[in-house]
Amino acid sequence: MRAYDLILKKREGDELSKEEIKFLIDGFTNGDIPDYQMSALSMAIYFNGMNDRETADLTMAMAESGDQIDLSKIKGVKVDKHSTGGVGDTTSLVLVPLVSAAGIPVAKMSGRGLGHTGGTIDKLESIPGFKTDLSMDRFIDNVNEIKAAIAGQTGNLTPADKKLYSLRDVTATVDSIPLIASSIMSKKIAGGADGIVLDVKVGSGAFMKTLENAEKLAEIMVNIGEKLGRDTTAVLTDMEQPLGHAVGNNLEVIEAINTLKGEGPEDLTDLCLTLGANMLEIAGEVESYQKGYQILEDLIANGKAFEQFKKLVKKQGGDVSCIEDPDKFKKSENTTEIKAKASGYLSQLKALDIGMAAMLVGAGREQKGDQILNEVGVVVHKKYGEKVTKGEKIATLYHNKENENTKEAIDKLNNSFIIKEEKPEPRKLIYKIID
Ligand code: URA
Ligand code: CA
Repeated sequence: MRAYDLILKKREGDELSKEEIKFLIDGFTNGDIPDYQMSALSMAIYFNGMNDRETADLTMAMAESGDQIDLSKIKGVKVDKHSTGGVGDTTSLVLVPLVSAAGIPVAKMSGRGLGHTGGTIDKLESIPGFKTDLSMDRFIDNVNEIKAAIAGQTGNLTPADKKLYSLRDVTATVDSIPLIASSIMSKKIAGGADGIVLDVKVGSGAFMKTLENAEKLAEIMVNIGEKLGRDTTAVLTDMEQPLGHAVGNNLEVIEAINTLKGEGPEDLTDLCLTLGANMLEIAGEVESYQKGYQILEDLIANGKAFEQFKKLVKKQGGDVSCIEDPDKFKKSENTTEIKAKASGYLSQLKALDIGMAAMLVGAGREQKGDQILNEVGVVVHKKYGEKVTKGEKIATLYHNKENENTKEAIDKLNNSFIIKEEKPEPRKLIYKIID
């Protein structure tokens, strides 16, 4: 087999066989196939697509490119959750304690983020003392002991995806449905999950800008999951505005604490209950999604979900007194208030620009290895459809220095909130559930 012939085949719109896909992924992982050939192949896939069978074979080839985690020592059905990525997505911080409080084992592997804020691992590390570099044995023991653990991804999980993702990032081939689907699903399969709940974001703040494309992506991922023997559900959710109020590392931990206590933003709470109920359903814990939703609502109301978060923080070495009294979290040196430019209704919040503002003041990384700041970010006080009066505070930027980046962040925020006289049509948070 020659990489050249396979690139040509895909360029001409033909199907690649399972063996051909495996040859390409193995060769790319071990360095026999150079970046320039893989770039050309990615572009051919971008234009000509892949059918469901090819996408499933690509997923499996990538899952097998490195270590595969064995979670069989954990009792019960292990259900993982994954989000396709949005702005201020605080759900994992809430879901791990919430779902495990219902008695379901949650063994969560998470990454450090690139983008507006850190990933779940970075956010948790903003809790003083919290350790995420658990050994595999410790990780599994913790789940057996308290039903939950969150660890950073191990070194050699899906190396093919790591390499391919960096290449796609610089060759304008990220937003290809088969490439996104196989990238996400390969990590979940290698991570050892029995069942998977996918939060597929739709809107200007997400990879998938239209419901039609998001639906296609969701259907393909659910299909791959079923083909590979993993019960999979996808929830299509709105990403036209940041989720909840907070965008930033310790700001989001505080938002998660509020949500677990029943005092969180309505949209974040509803989304966590929806995703969590689907996790309970896949785990076989409840006979219906509605029942799962009710159980999780009760766990928030009776304080057990919040107790479980404290247990998790304590188990991983974090300072529980910060969770009990969030005023103890490190604070940014400065804050700047963003005011409404007119009276009316908020008819658009530009999620990506709000995320970019948080990144400019240091909440996120532009490049791998960049330092991030825990205490900075953005809190939006008003959301889509709310009434505002001219001069009213609509957002706060938490930042340290007053420099060029801070000025740019303030400019971005000043242009991120569109106010109109008429009340806009209400938006849905959950568009559809595909299983
Ligand atoms: N998230 C991933 O993990 N991979 C993609 O390709 C896109 C989003
Ligand atoms: Ca948030």
